[in-house]
Amino acid sequence: MSSKTLRLTQPDDWHLHLRDGETLSTTVPHSSRTFARAIVMPNLKPPVTTVEQALAYRQRIISHIPKGRSFEPLMTLYLTDKLDAEEVQRAYDEQCVHAIKFYPAGATTNSESGVAELECVYPAIEKMAELGLPLLIHGEVTDDHIDIFDRERVFIDNVLSPLTQKFPKLKIVLEHITTKEAVDFVNSQGDNIAATLTPHHLLLDRNDLLAGGVKPHYYCLPILKRSSHRSALIEAATSGSPKFFLGTDSAPHAIETKETSCGCAGIYSAHAALEFYAEIFEAANALDKLEGFASFFGADFYKIPRNSAKITLSKNPLSVPAEYIFGDSTVIPMRAGETVSWSIEETT
Ligand code: NCD
Ligand code: ZN
Repeated sequence: MSSKTLRLTQPDDWHLHLRDGETLSTTVPHSSRTFARAIVMPNLKPPVTTVEQALAYRQRIISHIPKGRSFEPLMTLYLTDKLDAEEVQRAYDEQCVHAIKFYPAGATTNSESGVAELECVYPAIEKMAELGLPLLIHGEVTDDHIDIFDRERVFIDNVLSPLTQKFPKLKIVLEHITTKEAVDFVNSQGDNIAATLTPHHLLLDRNDLLAGGVKPHYYCLPILKRSSHRSALIEAATSGSPKFFLGTDSAPHAIETKETSCGCAGIYSAHAALEFYAEIFEAANALDKLEGFASFFGADFYKIPRNSAKITLSKNPLSVPAEYIFGDSTVIPMRAGETVSWSIEETT
């Protein structure tokens, strides 16, 4: 008996951490197995802050693409106090740079160089609004006294909302949203404001992280929220609205930096990303909405052509190994040692 199949236009990943050096030989083959293109996050150590650095990083990524595959890394710059309007113009003129990433200083992994006061970079943002170059936002405040579960909501009220009023034409992607408030905010805005959704925030809630023992491999930022928020995210992802599209935020860390007394934030999902999303959409009875979310809406927002290649998923379980090699260490992937109910059959 043949199993159920699903044929889609090849998808793109609109939020991805590939890291650098030897670890690219794990991350690039995994992402390029599924995705034609990916928006590559710039939070290396040191961060990618200039067009020149972005182009050099792009070459290092390209050198790890397995033979016979095509994969286009869409580069981003890390917004620092030093980014000026000229560098934004250079980024725009350089066809390989597609967006600028804003991390509030100290919000997450390698965000020490982030921006403390957005006012300092208004000239750069003004230029982005003028050119239509998207600002990608890690939407969490960093104030110590704000509860970690409230940081996205407070960011929307105190930072994002005023920013959209000051720059009404600025294209913004609110990355890896985790709350009903974020869904409502994005829905209340014009076409220039969109959001990415990760597989982990659609599949997991804070009980998965904390109940019955702490699971460091489910620790990520923004932190997993209560299940009612997860339901709002699923509704957004499967709504067919072009404001919500796929961004894995696959963020690998070596095992010893996760299983420790102060572990890093980030979940590795690139090895089975599309398969996870297929599970989510199937459970929501919305497989017919997967192609828009995974393959159309992101490209349309970034104003780049949709892919023409096709990918076929089948309802055959994919076994996830217990670990992958990661440089001179290992990384524990999401669903390690278990199965995902869909797998990729072919890409043509
Ligand atoms: C990301 C990382 O490890 O680079 N971690 C995470 O928990 N998502 C950074 C980020 O996107 O916040
Ligand atoms: Zn990220």
